[in-house]
Amino acid sequence: MNYRYLGQTKLQVSELCLGTMQFGWSVNETESFNIISKSVGHGINFIDTANIYSQWAKGNPGGTAETIIGNWLSKTSVPRDDLIIATKVRGQMGTDPDNQGLSKSHIMQAVEDSLRRLQIDTIDLYQTHWPDEDTSIDETLSAMDTLVKQGKVRYIGCSNYQAWQLIDALWSSEKNNLVQFDSLQPHYSLANRSEYEGDLSAVCKKYKLGVIPYSPLAGGFLTGKYRTDKPLPKSVRANKTQKYMTDKNYILIAALQSLAKNRNKSISQIALGWLLSQSEITAPIIGPRTITQLRDNLGSVGLRLTDAELEKIDKAST
Ligand SMILES: NC(=O)c1ccc[n+]([C@@H]2O[C@H](COP(=O)([O-])OP(=O)(O)OC[C@H]3O[C@@H](n4cnc5c(N)ncnc54)[C@H](OP(=O)(O)O)[C@@H]3O)[C@@H](O)[C@H]2O)c1
Repeated sequence: MNYRYLGQTKLQVSELCLGTMQFGWSVNETESFNIISKSVGHGINFIDTANIYSQWAKGNPGGTAETIIGNWLSKTSVPRDDLIIATKVRGQMGTDPDNQGLSKSHIMQAVEDSLRRLQIDTIDLYQTHWPDEDTSIDETLSAMDTLVKQGKVRYIGCSNYQAWQLIDALWSSEKNNLVQFDSLQPHYSLANRSEYEGDLSAVCKKYKLGVIPYSPLAGGFLTGKYRTDKPLPKSVRANKTQKYMTDKNYILIAALQSLAKNRNKSISQIALGWLLSQSEITAPIIGPRTITQLRDNLGSVGLRLTDAELEKIDKAST
């Protein structure tokens, strides 16, 4: 495993981050434990979750993924300090309409709930899951600043921000002398380039933010298993993922397949390797549902594509 600093923080994170949106959704607790143990055994020290994971699953109120991680932590012999735990706040928890957003009162309640479920004293990276148009960024950052001063949070990050929202937040931190976002979690993969590339990427580079892309395999599409000549894969996410089944994206899959063959790698490993080859990307967040998928994802560690390979991918994906 290779490790990198997350932006300008003192957190040294593995080049793959383990995402946990699937825990309690498409993966039960026992299998989730296996996935965490195997990941950590292979050197992954960075785990991403969110308080809402996965409240869209039937009968799940949210908080399940955090609870599973907490239960694993309570059983493992891996020292807490060897792991970097990131979670998020913003989404609707439960049915109370006030139990959501980025107001000071909600953040103060949500952080206590996350700490309790995770069974930890400090969250290493606390992220705003997406912006809250009803709350001023000054209020959100002031709440985050209090949490850092209280020792409940070490660093803060954000997700799903546009470039202007990120600049606005960085400016608010500077103006008000408050803690600042050290990382961005964007939706970024070979099947979804435009959202991050351009202004957002330029802001992250200029302000030296850590960048941890989510859905690096486009929910499974960039494994090559979504085929026009076969039924949709048996996945709870197939209905959403099939939006990527376009003529343009099959040109991309063909290019990835040919590179994969030359390198003796899988299509998904090349798609992850493409992210790992970009110096400003800190760690793609993988979301394996099985140990077999995890093993495949781990096969991308250390993979760096050549300029010629990157050019071929550019031609097929832009
Ligand atoms: N900030 C945000 O708004 C946000 C949003 C989404 C996700 N995230 C974070 O990012 C993490 C990863 O997101 P993601 O799950 O969308 O990542 P992804 O890597 O794009 O998709 C993962 C899914 O692809 C399929 N897959 C992965 N490897 C495979 C392989 N080798 N062979 C076949 N299928 C494979 C599996 O789904 P099936 O087996 O079901 O097909 C797996 O659950 C999440 O866990 C979460 O922590 C954040």
